[in-house]
Amino acid sequence: MEYYQTACTIIDQLRARDDYLILAIETSCDETAAAVTRGRTVLSDVVESQIDIHKKYGGVVPEIASRNHSLKIEATIQEALLQANVTLNDISVIAVTRGPGLLGALLVGLCHAKALAYARGIPFVCINHIKGHIAANYIIDPTLQPPFITLLASGGHTEILKVDSFNKIECLGSTCDDAAGEAFDKVARVLNLPYPGGPEIEKLALTGRVNQKLPYPFRREKHLNFSFSGIKTAVINLVANAKRKGQELASADVAASFQALVANILTRNTIEAAKRTGINTVALAGGVGANSELRRALEHSCAENQFKLILPPKRFCTDNASMIGVACFEEIKIGIVPSGLEVDADPSLSCII
Ligand code: KG4
Ligand code: ZN
Repeated sequence: MEYYQTACTIIDQLRARDDYLILAIETSCDETAAAVTRGRTVLSDVVESQIDIHKKYGGVVPEIASRNHSLKIEATIQEALLQANVTLNDISVIAVTRGPGLLGALLVGLCHAKALAYARGIPFVCINHIKGHIAANYIIDPTLQPPFITLLASGGHTEILKVDSFNKIECLGSTCDDAAGEAFDKVARVLNLPYPGGPEIEKLALTGRVNQKLPYPFRREKHLNFSFSGIKTAVINLVANAKRKGQELASADVAASFQALVANILTRNTIEAAKRTGINTVALAGGVGANSELRRALEHSCAENQFKLILPPKRFCTDNASMIGVACFEEIKIGIVPSGLEVDADPSLSCII
């Protein structure tokens, strides 16, 4: 109780300030990440990726992810402090991802944050991973203020979000089945490409042509929802038909056609959301946001419609802790209270309010 009261007092004193340091921790999936941030500025950003460990299993193995987070978290935090040229004594708040994500993986970061915060007598603040992805746009455009439309496309989520303020977010469209990143990963597997599929498909598509016929889901529908599983099935059928006929599959063409279609669908719905709401600022969030074809399509369509587009660099689209630190700063500004030591991780935490 005494710890929590002190934490509340500290957070209240920080609300109007933008000069204090946050140590941010992110362990929701397969990246062990730590960062030091001040306001919307990133002082250090360390990401210890487990991709090579999970590659041989064709996807993230939750138990292996948790174990590796445990092994790497302390060194990752130390490296973030070192790169920012600060020590724990300089940190005012610890920000940590509470969810959504893999339960065991989240718990490693959360327990570490709790222990550090308690030992130091400083507050820790639980952050929603999706809000973190949105906050990556604040790093790139420190003047950005809601309202804006965000296309969130990651391994677990595909949503069009209307950000009215950092604590009022409305979902205008979401996937009915697979997330966009999941579709990239599954199609990559069908094409015998390693995990994670997104970057591999992007690489292969460079040498391909957009000449394969794939279905465009919900083409004539008014709603802004997505569906990617039919496209994935169509790719599976293309591969099976080529095999049955003894033909060599033009994998690069399939990759290019799939990527172009997904980029087109994501862009079309995002632009439509901006038009319908009259909000002319578009932001991008999530790992699929690293895709060059999607970025090109968004740039083209936003320019055509005279919308402002914020494109975080690829390293801030995929999972990182800087976005968690900046989200924490925004949350403190608008009144979040510190988390108590009893707080638990939440694998399906929602950011829709
Ligand atoms: O946001 P993120 O790093 O983790 C989650 O919160 O899910 O997103 C990971 C997803 C994976 O499905 C990965 O294949 C996809 O983002 N991804 C990409 C690219 N880089 C990562 N998809 C398409 N093109 C890319 N260049
Ligand atoms: Zn993510």
